[in-house]
Amino acid sequence: MTPSSSPPDASSPIGVFDSGIGGLTVAHAIMRRLPAERLVYFGDTARVPYGPKSPDTVRRYSREITAYLLGEGVKAIVVACNTATAHALPALQAELPVPVIGVVDPGARAAVAASRSRHIGVIGTEGTINSRAYHRAIDRIAPDARIDGTACPLFVPLIEEGWLDHPATRLVAEEYLGRHRVSGIDTLVLGCTHYPLLKSLLGTVLPGVALIDSAAETAEETARMLAEHGLEAAPESGDRDADDPSPHRFIASDDAEQFLKLSQRFLGRTVERVETRTLG
Ligand code: DGL
Repeated sequence: MTPSSSPPDASSPIGVFDSGIGGLTVAHAIMRRLPAERLVYFGDTARVPYGPKSPDTVRRYSREITAYLLGEGVKAIVVACNTATAHALPALQAELPVPVIGVVDPGARAAVAASRSRHIGVIGTEGTINSRAYHRAIDRIAPDARIDGTACPLFVPLIEEGWLDHPATRLVAEEYLGRHRVSGIDTLVLGCTHYPLLKSLLGTVLPGVALIDSAAETAEETARMLAEHGLEAAPESGDRDADDPSPHRFIASDDAEQFLKLSQRFLGRTVERVETRTLG
């Protein structure tokens, strides 16, 4: 597929980007919610993780990726990375000629809808938690909410290692989250692309706490954004398997091998072809 030189329209793809492969959890939710849409997914695997990097660096990387995606003819952009959303979303929304949404507002909305006690925990990378982006987003909807943020930097490497139900991961989760058992949160936002994969383990560490995965809510917001801008793709004739990755493009900034290996875990399907594109 070659990028088009004409301006994007409803038949153009949606750009989705993340610091790496974790954003495939969001891409997967969009593929399911909007089966007629085509995605161009960019994973910045050469420069992952974004979590410990400075806001300026994450903004620079995000601008490079979105410039590339625009060159590929996308009609809208979904920032699937929580850290990139936290640091770069307002700048991208102000600068780019297409609609842009992130994952923080959808996650905040879902958390407020789920919480009865209005005491909400948020976990994410150091960058996301230090930015207080979720605090601000929740506060805008529910000013009476009490919010506890916890950075969990060890989760991403443990998940990439595939240790989803491993004693070491449980120990780390207990260390990070044990205090929430007594603090009284009733809802926990999984504010990082990778954390939905730990849902069942975290459910046993924090029994009775609602675990919020923003992917499904982000897919809803993507649908709303497309409708608002008249950018919905025409429904296809005939049924397309929503899980079939073949109508979509997957691009990595580093060797495709790791992407191919981990895609099954995040997408539920193996991606057959990954393009490589170096940025910066
Ligand atoms: N994608 C990042 C996020 O959602 C997690 C991995 C990273 O640190 O880059 O915040």
